[in-house]
Amino acid sequence: MKVSLRGRALLGDFVHAPVRGEIEVLADHVIRIGDDGMIVSVGPAADGVPEGTLELPQGQVVLPGFVDLHVHAPQYPQLGLALDEPLEVWLGKYTFPLEARYADLDFARAAYGTLVSDLLAGGTTTALYFATVHREATQLLAEICLAKGQRGLVGKVVMDNPDTSPGYYRDETAEAAVADTRAVIDRIRALPGNDRVLPVITPRFIPSCTDDALAGLGALAQECGCHVQTHCSESDWAHGYALERYGQTDTAALDGFGLLTRKTVLAHSVFLTDADMDTVRDAGAGVAHCALSNMYFANAVFPLRRALEKGVHVGLGTDISGGPSASMFEACRTTVQASRLLETGTDSDVPRETRGHPGTSIDMKTAFHLATAGGGEALELPIGLFRAGFHFDAIAIDPSAELGAIRLFGAQAVERIEQILYGASRTNIAATWVGGDQVSGTTLNSLLI
Ligand code: GUN
Ligand code: FE
Repeated sequence: MKVSLRGRALLGDFVHAPVRGEIEVLADHVIRIGDDGMIVSVGPAADGVPEGTLELPQGQVVLPGFVDLHVHAPQYPQLGLALDEPLEVWLGKYTFPLEARYADLDFARAAYGTLVSDLLAGGTTTALYFATVHREATQLLAEICLAKGQRGLVGKVVMDNPDTSPGYYRDETAEAAVADTRAVIDRIRALPGNDRVLPVITPRFIPSCTDDALAGLGALAQECGCHVQTHCSESDWAHGYALERYGQTDTAALDGFGLLTRKTVLAHSVFLTDADMDTVRDAGAGVAHCALSNMYFANAVFPLRRALEKGVHVGLGTDISGGPSASMFEACRTTVQASRLLETGTDSDVPRETRGHPGTSIDMKTAFHLATAGGGEALELPIGLFRAGFHFDAIAIDPSAELGAIRLFGAQAVERIEQILYGASRTNIAATWVGGDQVSGTTLNSLLI
């Protein structure tokens, strides 16, 4: 039995990133956690250590759990497969046939169970999930998140446009799609003991949906106040599709349908214009930046620095399985790397002066901020930071794990966070907590002081 930290305190070294571009080290601190799993106080051990406090093993460091802002839960079985096709071919040839299999609840239960356990073991404490068009399997994903303790935001995918969605895998009508979405929202909100799973309105992307469905979901978003997610301006094809259908960008069209709210997350958004960014920012909506997936499907690099400087909320997403890695460490790395290619440019035939876009790269500290606090802000949830009033969602990193790839040669973990972020894999995650409950890893039972 794993020890819950609810109503307890944890002593150790903590590191988080409240400010973009900065890392804050809380060495030898005590975090007290309430019975509700939220942080009550954060302070130096020198100010007092309550009785019954648990002590982190020597050499470990605690980070906020990762917030993965874009996961296609049903696509986990094809992680790393078939990425040589363009997006619109990949969807029809591989992805829709796989997603259609989730009509089978036994298949869904096995695949979703494996995914949620793996993400928790990998340090993803919150995930914003696209499920499938199926009502039952979507509800099942929410139940699995709750049973395994993950903070899951789960959406039934809407795709009712017969021009772009195959007959074997689509909503029958716009009305049915909206009614099913409403039913899933009600069901998730009513799950017994639900303190962490939230429903999400999820039009797949504009090409998949009729205007009636988009308008119906926009009205539902205003009515129920829940989160909204969709893909936006992901690739040349997807961006061009909206321009052709509406004579305006998908950002503008989504806004027109009432789908841009403070709780909206737009995946990719690679081709946002300056005006689109203003629209997203003014709505208080956010972007799920999926740097790895973008290398396969987007045809360009998302101008992350520009979005951040404009004040757009941005978090990071793996985009399983458009991105072939479930790891948010990997998402941090590819975010840095893609931004560096944007800055320097990529074509050695082009003179240095005109090859790239100066001033567009970001560093690992910024990527870490986006993967934790940034995701929390985009979702408008108190997660991603060690601060009173925030959920205690965290991971304990063991940099000395023998089978891992981090080698600190005697340096203190808190001084080497960048090295840890570049080198860490699941092997280095000793424990994962969500809302104070340990949901993965080895137990700290013996370290009661
Ligand atoms: N656009 C519409 N559906 C999808 C999807 O499943 N993955 C990605 N990357 N883009 C999409
Ligand atoms: Fe996606």
